[in-house]
Order: sequence, then structure tokens, then C-alpha cells
Amino acid sequence: MTYSDQEVAALYDILNPWSQSDDFYLGLVMDARAALDVGCGTGVILHRARLDGHTGRLCGIDPDRAMLEIAQRRPDIEWQAGSAASMSWIGQFDLAIMSGHAFQFLVDDDELRTSLTAIRNALVDGGYFAFETRNPLIREWEHWNPDEPIDVIDPAGRPIRVSYNVEAVVGDVITVTETTSAHDGTSLRIDRANLRFLDVDTLGQYLSDAGFQIEVAYGDWSRAPFTLTSREIITIARVS
Ligand SMILES: C[S@@+](CC[C@H](N)C(=O)[O-])C[C@H]1O[C@@H](n2cnc3c(N)ncnc32)[C@H](O)[C@@H]1O
Repeated sequence: MTYSDQEVAALYDILNPWSQSDDFYLGLVMDARAALDVGCGTGVILHRARLDGHTGRLCGIDPDRAMLEIAQRRPDIEWQAGSAASMSWIGQFDLAIMSGHAFQFLVDDDELRTSLTAIRNALVDGGYFAFETRNPLIREWEHWNPDEPIDVIDPAGRPIRVSYNVEAVVGDVITVTETTSAHDGTSLRIDRANLRFLDVDTLGQYLSDAGFQIEVAYGDWSRAPFTLTSREIITIARVS
């Protein structure tokens, strides 16, 4: 037995139910005339925005086709397959978001710079880019280990076990595997991701180089100011 990309995508929303972070981004989207969700995944935030009565332009982009197929169930939103770096919109959105730590998938310097420039270009003058990245000082990856698996029931009604294992820490890049297993422990698939944990100063430099200025940095979803002990670096940056 294996587990398909479509099954993994369908499991994503079960593993990541609606949370305070989604409320945070939803509020920003609802206030925007035209919003772009970069790394939109299954599109839950834009779905909810439309459901809640957003009448303006909503657009989501993601390189993962299986995730995007779920997003595309709402045809009253624009969807595009692709990475942040591949975007070619010019001055079309007043808000861009990267939620669910999608920003940390921008690992190598060139991709990070090209992605930030593409996001900046997609925004109108004075437009905002909101995203979060985990504070490296908290070393959250040290809690990602196979001894703490997550048991869920997938949309087909099967019990599934998901576990994480950090394979490597090289500089600020963490390589983590996600193992999806059947109830009896049989491994169905292993997915590997590299995630970058930028520190707050380096992040600020990348943003400034791409033409953004930081409007505000929060440390949690209740909008407490960022401090060095905050779990998240939640940034709202403005096109400068
Ligand atoms: C953890 S998921 C978050 C999905 C969604 N934003 C959410 O809040 O649930 C990370 C997403 O980033 C996407 N992603 C990975 N690399 C990307 C890139 N270079 N540009 C844009 N999105 C990317 C993945 O395909 C995935 O859907």
C-alpha cells in the first residue's frame, strides 16, 4: 500500500485545522481589495474569505499540484500552479500573504531573493506582504522527533500515523522528513523538506534588499510585539 500525493494533500487540512494564524491572515485578506496567497496550499484562507463575503480579487499560487487541486474546488478564485519565484504579476495586489510557514520553504539565497522581488513586483506601491517564520532562537525543530507521532483519521476513514524526524541541521537550514504510516506501523511514504530558519536581522536585510520596509513584527497571533523569546516572527512589510 502506498499513499498518493492527493491523499497527502487531503490529509493536510486534517493535520492543520483552522487556527488563530488563519484568523490573523483572514482579517488582512478581508481588508484588502486584491489579495495574493503565495504558497496557498489547499487554499483554505481564500476559500473562507470568499465565503465571508470578500468581493474583490483573490488569487492563490502554489507549486504543489495536489494541494492546488483541492484549492481549485472553488472556481470563484484565481488559482495558479507555480512557485513564488515564477510569479510575473506587476502592481496588481495590495496584499500578499505567505501563511503556514510557507516562507521557510524559500531556502537558497537566489530563490529567496527572486521570490521576494516577485512578491514586491506583484504589489502596488504601498502594498503589504504578511508572513511568518519560526524564530530560530526557539529551536523548534528539536521537538520534531519520531517519538511524538500524530494519529489521525484520513478522509477515507483510515487511521494514519504521521511522524517527523530531523535529518540534518546545516547552518540555518533544517532537513526534516515526514513519514506517513498505516495503523500497523507500515510506512506508506516519506516526504523530505528543507526549511530555512532566518534570524530576525538577516530576514530584515533580505526584505530591505527586495524593497520592503518592516511595518510591524509580532511574536504571536494575538499581536504581541516580537521579542527574542517569541516562537514566531510574524512580519508585515510594506513596499518602500
Ligand atoms: C506548510 S504548507 C502551507 C500552505 C498554506 N499556506 C497554509 O497556510 O496552510 C507550505 C506550502 O508552501 C508551498 N511552497 C513550497 N515551496 C514554495 C515556493 N517556492 N513558492 C511558493 N510556495 C511554495 C508548498 O507547496 C506548500 O503548499
